[in-house]
Order: sequence, then C-alpha cells, then structure tokens
Amino acid sequence: MDVGSKVNVLLVDDEPRNLFALRELLGSLKQNLISAPSGEEALRVALKNDLAVILLDVRMPGMDGFETARMLRERERSRLTPIVFLTAAAEEMDSVFRGYEVGAVDYLIKPIVPEVLKSKVSVFVDLARKSAQLAESEQKLRALAAHLISVREEERAHIAREIHDELGQVLTGLKMEVAWLAKRLNDDQKPLLEKTESMGQLIDTTVQTVRKISTGLRPEVLDEMGLVAAIGWQAKEFQKRTGIRCRLNLPGEIGGLERELSTTMFRVFQEILTNVARHSRATRVDVDLKNQAKNLVLEVNDNGVGISNGEHNGRRSLGLLGMQERALRVGGEVNIGSVPGHGTRVVVTIPAVR
Ligand SMILES: Nc1ncnc2c1ncn2[C@@H]1O[C@H](COP(=O)(O)OP(=O)(O)O)[C@@H](O)[C@H]1O
Ligand SMILES: [Mg+2]
Repeated sequence: MDVGSKVNVLLVDDEPRNLFALRELLGSLKQNLISAPSGEEALRVALKNDLAVILLDVRMPGMDGFETARMLRERERSRLTPIVFLTAAAEEMDSVFRGYEVGAVDYLIKPIVPEVLKSKVSVFVDLARKSAQLAESEQKLRALAAHLISVREEERAHIAREIHDELGQVLTGLKMEVAWLAKRLNDDQKPLLEKTESMGQLIDTTVQTVRKISTGLRPEVLDEMGLVAAIGWQAKEFQKRTGIRCRLNLPGEIGGLERELSTTMFRVFQEILTNVARHSRATRVDVDLKNQAKNLVLEVNDNGVGISNGEHNGRRSLGLLGMQERALRVGGEVNIGSVPGHGTRVVVTIPAVR
C-alpha cells in the first residue's frame, strides 16, 4: 500500500440525514466513506471489504447496533475491526456499557462534535494504514527471503558442478601426465621415481578434497539418486561424524519429485541434524519419512535435552526461521515440539506436487 492510498470507513445509520452529515464531516479526511442504512447492509459491506473503522448507530429498526456488532465480531474479516458506537445522550450510560460488552472500542455521543469525530476517526485511519504497510513489508521481506534461498541454492549447485567438472578434469589430466613421466624413468632414477609417486598421492588427496567440497555444496546423490537416497546418505554421514546413532524409516525412492521440493526437504533435514549435533546432546535420532497422499512428511526425533519455547521462538533462532521460510516457500510447514528433558521432535510437511 502506498503512503497515500485510501482506507475504508464504514458509516452505519438508518437516518439518511445522519449519514449525510457524517459524510460531510469526514470528507476532509479524504478516505473511502461507505454508507450503510442498516445493520444487515453493514454486515454485507464488512464481508467484502477491509475496514479501518465502523461508525455504528446504536438505535436502528430491525437489527440494532449491538446485534450488528456482535455479528461483526463473529466473522473472521471483521473480528478485529474497530467499532465506534454512535449513541444518543439520553441513553448514554446503558448504551456505553452494552457497547463495550459487544466489542466496541469507543463511542460518540449525539449530537456529534465535528472535531471529536474527525480526530477519533483519523486515529483509526492511521492505524489501518500502518497495519497495511506492515503487512506489505512483511510480504516483501518474505519474498526477498524466498528469492535469496533460491539464488543461493542455484549458486551452490553451479559452483559444485564447476569444481567437480573443471577441477576434476584437470586433476585427472595431471595424474596421467605424472604416470607418463614415471613410466619413462629408469630404475636407477630412484629419487625422481619417488617424487612422481608422492605427486600422484598429492593429486589423489586433492581429488578427494574437491569431491568433499563439491558434495558439501550440493550432494550428487540428491540429483542422481533422489531425495530418499540423499536422506539416507546424509544420516549415515552424520552418524559417522558425530557418533549419534540414526535409525531410519524411509520409503522406496519417490519418483517425479520436483527438484525444488527435494532440495527443500533435504536442506531442512540437514539443518535439523546440525541442530541435533550442536545442541541436543542426544545419543539417538529417529528419522521417519512418509509419502502421504499429497504430502511428504519428515519426522525427526532426538532423545536429547529438548528445547524450550523461548529458545525456538527467540529472535536469534535464525536456523529454525530459515527452515520455516524454506518450507513456506513451497507451501509447506515446519512444526517443532519438545518436552524438556525428553528430546525434540521436528515435523516437516511439504506438498509432494505443486
Ligand atoms: N535438537 C535440539 N535440541 C535441543 N535444542 C535445540 C535443538 N534444536 C534447536 N535447539 C535450540 O534452539 C535454538 C535455535 O536453533 P537455531 O535457530 O537453529 O539456531 P542456532 O543453531 O544457530 O543456535 C538453539 O540455539 C538451541 O538452543
Ligand atoms: Mg541451528
């Protein structure tokens, strides 16, 4: 929403003259003024529009203001919309109490004082504008996060491929050159022969390092064998590295899974294991992957110290936030549960098709 864009203000009164007067008084705020001559009409408008504030006459034939307010509160779209009652001086106290009971945030006493009306309404107009701006900026940040995730993923895949293919080729070439040299040396050139041997070993180590780096960036198994194999492989690596026992319950390979979806699941899984290694002090992890109707559901339980509410909602829980954003991006979600002292459970659900 632009700073200058308008918000909706709903005016509800059965008396056309009153509606007219309200419109006149509020015209200078330059917002969208919507008039409704009855509670029923007000409900219809509130169903179709986001409203900054509703000015609601208490006494109307048919559905009165209280009844209208009660129904507005029951509906999702108008559940939190500020309602300001317009009450006649004679019925003031009783009306005011009942008004607050059904969810009013304020009231105005007729005859209405223009300055009071205008300043009250403009408070709600500002509030609505700021909420809309906040919602929009949240949306933008979310889109940016999604974009960064995908750019980073592409870049990693690209670098992994480059390193693997280009460096791999050069190293293979080098290895062959060294072998060629070695073959042309005589047995009496021992020091040189030893050199070629150690050169060969250095090349082998470098090949392994290159493979390690490129796998770390993006494991080949994910693209070549699929998600299930990649999860199995990652769990085995994890167990080797940390000594934490992994029990796997995996389905057969899932065919036709979009690359984006398998990448998402795999990355979230990696992040979960990193947390287990870093924080849980667990001795065992259970990994369960299911291909349910329309969803892939990954459940990871550790038997560690557990995680408190404050920890996983903390502002610095960027790892957990990253998982949520990744899942959200493909229409999925991550749920974290824990009983302190009894481990942590992370459940990741993502759609199997998009
Ligand atoms: N499996 C786990 N067991 C215990 N605590 C955990 C676990 N996973 C996460 N946590 C807690 O939640 C916090 C937030 O996790 P995360 O967002 O990944 O941040 P980081 O790993 O960088 O600390 C961690 O600092 C840790 O206290
Ligand atoms: Mg983490």
